[in-house]
Amino acid sequence: ESIEKGGYDYFMLKEIFEQPKSIRDALRGRLIAANGHVNLGGIHKYLDNLVNAKRIVIVACGTSWHAGLVAEYIIEEFARIPVEVEYASEFRYRNPIIEEGDIIIAISQSGETADTLAAIELAKGRGAIIFGVCNVVGSSIARATHEGAYIHAGPEIGVASTKAFTGQVTVLALLGLMLAKERKTLSENQLKDLLRQLERIPQKVEQALKLNAQIEKIAKDFVDARNFLYLGRGYNFPVALEGALKLKEISYIHAEGYPAAEMKHGPIALIDEEMPVVVIATRDNSYDKILSNIEEVKARRGKVIAVVTEGDAAIPKKVDYVIEVPSTHDAFMPLVSVIPLQLLSYHVALMRGCNVDQPRNLAKSVTVE
Ligand code: G6P
Repeated sequence: ESIEKGGYDYFMLKEIFEQPKSIRDALRGRLIAANGHVNLGGIHKYLDNLVNAKRIVIVACGTSWHAGLVAEYIIEEFARIPVEVEYASEFRYRNPIIEEGDIIIAISQSGETADTLAAIELAKGRGAIIFGVCNVVGSSIARATHEGAYIHAGPEIGVASTKAFTGQVTVLALLGLMLAKERKTLSENQLKDLLRQLERIPQKVEQALKLNAQIEKIAKDFVDARNFLYLGRGYNFPVALEGALKLKEISYIHAEGYPAAEMKHGPIALIDEEMPVVVIATRDNSYDKILSNIEEVKARRGKVIAVVTEGDAAIPKKVDYVIEVPSTHDAFMPLVSVIPLQLLSYHVALMRGCNVDQPRNLAKSVTVE
């Protein structure tokens, strides 16, 4: 087993550090930025159905559902197709409106999640066309779908999903750009620029991983925290959900992710000097808004840990801890901004003496209801 961990103490840490490679593997052979070429080889027979879709419904659970939320924003922004993201467990039991030819995208690392599989079977029974985004080759979900794309992340052993999330977002970003290209909803130059930025993500993730020692230090101050709040807006909202999920899964600290603007409708009541608030505040079009959310937290003496874009001058003056990540296009920022949050949960959990690879009560794949 120690050989399998490749010199790391835990699978989770190994998998976090594998991300530059796993993202590169997810991109391999699927884009040539200079030519504006983007193609997922596994999607061809039903490509026209996807390109002409009136709407897309994404079904998934857990971390895969978070990747689905990022995909919703990407596909709507670039390809201009309405997207809904559903918890597979809710979708399957609420008699959803699915008709002949409707498009479903099922996202699953393991390809074995019972609720996701059941959602697929239900939609298939009503004549939908199902695309899969899976990691495990030949898994039940991969076999149940009409077409799809693998994320090629390699085996993920740690129960808390890390490299699968970034692999899923990468493949879904490729899908969004491929649809935008076919639908001509982006100019040639916009498309090339986005592909170039996506291609550079592995280096940016590599750079973000250098934050490890700094994050370990920050983690020390929060080992005894009882609650955590994670806030983000736009593309960083799903990252807030994912950061909170990572922390609760492996450290057993109660954590909630929230869209930053929704804080005033509830969570703000919880903020006092005991409350750590992780704010993902990278420079994007909601930057000014998130800055004022930070001020609202500080006014109530919350402890703010801010994830910012390198070189940000304003936020460091206002917050308690600053984590600087390299810049990229807003749409791809989740691939970079999630890295410090994975590391933060890892270190906090380790310092609390938790089994980070096999947290209590959780399973790597949930094959029963
Ligand atoms: C379990 C795992 C999570 C995962 C979720 C969905 O809860 O612990 O890490 O995100 O299932 O799994 P899937 O294999 O369908 O992505």
